[in-house]
Amino acid sequence: MAMKEFKRIGILTSGGDAPGMNAAIRSVVRTAISRGVECMGIYRGYRGLIEGDIKLLDMRSVSNIINHGGTVLYSDRCPEFKTEEGMREAIANCRRFGIDGIVAIGGDGTFRGATDLTEHGIPCVALPGTIDNDITSTDYSIGFDTAVNTTIEMVDRLRDTCESHARCNVVEVMGRDAGDIALETAIAVGASAVAIKEIPFDEAAVLEDLRISREKGKRNFIIVVSEGVPGYAEQLTKTVEEKTGIETRFARFAHVVRGGSPTLRDRMLGSRVGAYAVERLLEGMSNLVICERKGEIVSMDIGEALILDRMYKDKLKDGDLEKFAPETVANMRDFCKQKFDAFKKLYDLAYEISR
Ligand code: ADP
Ligand code: F6P
Repeated sequence: MAMKEFKRIGILTSGGDAPGMNAAIRSVVRTAISRGVECMGIYRGYRGLIEGDIKLLDMRSVSNIINHGGTVLYSDRCPEFKTEEGMREAIANCRRFGIDGIVAIGGDGTFRGATDLTEHGIPCVALPGTIDNDITSTDYSIGFDTAVNTTIEMVDRLRDTCESHARCNVVEVMGRDAGDIALETAIAVGASAVAIKEIPFDEAAVLEDLRISREKGKRNFIIVVSEGVPGYAEQLTKTVEEKTGIETRFARFAHVVRGGSPTLRDRMLGSRVGAYAVERLLEGMSNLVICERKGEIVSMDIGEALILDRMYKDKLKDGDLEKFAPETVANMRDFCKQKFDAFKKLYDLAYEISR
């Protein structure tokens, strides 16, 4: 019944790209077409929506993309979209191209754009796509698993040369608002320490541990630092060498881990959430973000997801909680507590097995 209302939907990727976005695009396009709905590719995120950079995608136009990193629809940051004129153009193009609803893949900025479009009459569903895994409402975002696996492979290589030269390497990894890449990498590579913004870093204790381990004959050391602690990685590189006498090098992986062929996990996640998003949209639902929780695909209202995110990151603004019932707020607090407890447990594990 609801399917008849949707003749055509659009799909876009926005903000920082992430491996697995192509799997999600493919899944959205093929799910829509299988249900008798056309799918328009909106290129370069919200910029393409404003400029009318929009083309019909068929089953074959998403062939052979699931194994590629990046996004075949390209991405962009488009501040103009936040203006009234930008939104007017975007809505006009939706009408011009017959787009009845949109699946938007990206991070929290992209979600805000999706909410604005929904409020202006174009129902949207959002998918979490960012290597940082900094979206509170989902356990995993598309791209995180690939980025961490790439990071691990690169650190393993660094360790080889550190061992040969009896050195320490301080590695800075991406993650502006979240230390997930740094923390999971640290555990998986057996790092000596990890510095992230979420949990205070005891530099003196780490230096002491390094000194003691070196005295006992340990040759190589890896320390992982998240970019969320700006400038710290380079500073720590100097400090380690000065205070412990261990020759220390610095490496910044940056965007290189944002590319590459997606892992099984990211292909699965992209494929699952893509199909789920189209199903919800065609059922008449909107302003949702599709999440993975404990292995299940679920949805959450974008407005609630954005406030949950601010709650988790301690960035709540006055009045943020006013529109929610006390029970909902209590559930949100409980969710944030459980999420942080699990994160802290991983941090403690990283520390425990680091020496
Ligand atoms: P991400 O989606 O990865 O968080 P950005 O924050 O750069 O990346 O957001 C991507 C795009 O989403 C922006 O370039 C802009 O077009 C749109 N966007 C961001 N913030 C908002 C907002 N507050 N309202 C509407 N659109 C927004
Ligand atoms: O996609 C997330 C992210 O890679 C962050 O980790 C990083 O801080 C940021 O994007 C870099 O953005 P840009 O692509 O604009 O350099």
